[in-house]
Amino acid sequence: MEKIVALCKRRGFVFASSEIYGGLGSTYDYGHYGVLLKTNVKNEWWRAMVQERDDIVALDSAILQHPRTWEASGHLAGFTDPMVDCRTCGQRFRADHLPDLQCPQKPSKPPGDGPNCDLTEARDFNLMFETTMGPVKDSGATVYLRPETAQGIFVNFKNVLQFSRKKPPFGIAQVGKSFRNEITPGNFVFRTREFEQMEMEFFVPPDEAPRWYDFWKGARYDWYVELGIREDHLRLREHDSDELSHYSSATADVEYLFPMGWSELEGIANRGDFDLKQHTEFSGQKLEYFDGQTGERYVPHVVEPAAGADRAMLAFLVDAYDEDEIGGEQRTVLKLHPRLAPVKVAVLPHLRKDGLPEAAQEIYAALRGRMQSEYDEGGSIGKRYRRQDEIGTPYCVTVDHQSREDGTVTLRDRDTLEQERVTIDGLAHDLAARLAREWRSPKGTGAQA
Ligand code: GAP
Repeated sequence: MEKIVALCKRRGFVFASSEIYGGLGSTYDYGHYGVLLKTNVKNEWWRAMVQERDDIVALDSAILQHPRTWEASGHLAGFTDPMVDCRTCGQRFRADHLPDLQCPQKPSKPPGDGPNCDLTEARDFNLMFETTMGPVKDSGATVYLRPETAQGIFVNFKNVLQFSRKKPPFGIAQVGKSFRNEITPGNFVFRTREFEQMEMEFFVPPDEAPRWYDFWKGARYDWYVELGIREDHLRLREHDSDELSHYSSATADVEYLFPMGWSELEGIANRGDFDLKQHTEFSGQKLEYFDGQTGERYVPHVVEPAAGADRAMLAFLVDAYDEDEIGGEQRTVLKLHPRLAPVKVAVLPHLRKDGLPEAAQEIYAALRGRMQSEYDEGGSIGKRYRRQDEIGTPYCVTVDHQSREDGTVTLRDRDTLEQERVTIDGLAHDLAARLAREWRSPKGTGAQA
């Protein structure tokens, strides 16, 4: 994980937030390549959820919602973690995570076991951030930063049903920021207090819920595999009955083998009719489906795949990170799926003279409107390849003297290190075809120059 954090900082993917003020506990800012990578992750999610299906529509609901939303959902009363404070060091810990944590004063021991530890009794700590709506604090209404995007979907069920001309089974998909005042955030962007979720609520006739639950477990596992995650680092784990949330009759996690061990990437839950019934009760508005043809009226059940964009991005980074040797030189490379790679192609003039930069600029100008491209003329060609390898660019195009004679360039593949001569005229088309190909992680196959 330290290597990933260092690479992310060195190459401007992710920085600690408010760094000039010493940072703010576990919030992060995304730089250029981080924004491009996370955007690609989210776009792949939209592609799988909405673009390639007829039965799911998109939504973007507000972060601030009516406070009754959180009463109805159960978050106000029950979205808590047990917390203890240490009277000696002033630090706060998740009571149920103590054995996995370190005492700040005696890191070889968990909090509570150090010679000076003095822990309070565990008490429930609500994870929702609250703020005040309106200009006057005392007379304003308390509102909450949403702790999940899902409730914005449930409260819009009626609107969407009316305007989308859909009937169950159908889904509503949303991507957006969520906020949780986590007691022990950590492991870089794995657990933070501000993060992005990619959630979809799939509304189904009650008797179809078990079948759709199985379907979405498979579909979501396959999404990670299709985007290159190695299958020996991915698993589906069904929750035991004592792990289930109050609303769920079945939940499975897609887990990834992170450096700190198997951890949740995404949860798929059979939520039953809990949410729609709760919002019906609290709002007085009937949230149900009426089938005009059969005369049937029912509250749909919900199957929910809920993923984290930052956490997925971290898994893709961890899975892609590799170090190998080329011509006796060490290289760091991100073997990312080409569709996820922040930059698809870099255009490099072999030398900074003889009209090669101008010819390369012309190619770059033609490519950049079609795909995320970079132009780089600084340093030796080997150094420029390494720079692109480090950010996961799948293809480098080198313009040399021969290019000016026969209209061809060298196309270098990040994974195989093969170099081919291809025509400049066919380059954009050729690259688009390569980027659309099926791809599996070559990590561990040891491609050598
Ligand atoms: N609506 C259901 C729900 O929110 P969750 O398991 O609490 O379920 C779904 O969250 C996903 O959101 C998680 O699998 C994870 O990927 C992401 N997530 C949750 N809390 C997070 C945090 N503090 N930091 C980063 N990602 C988080």
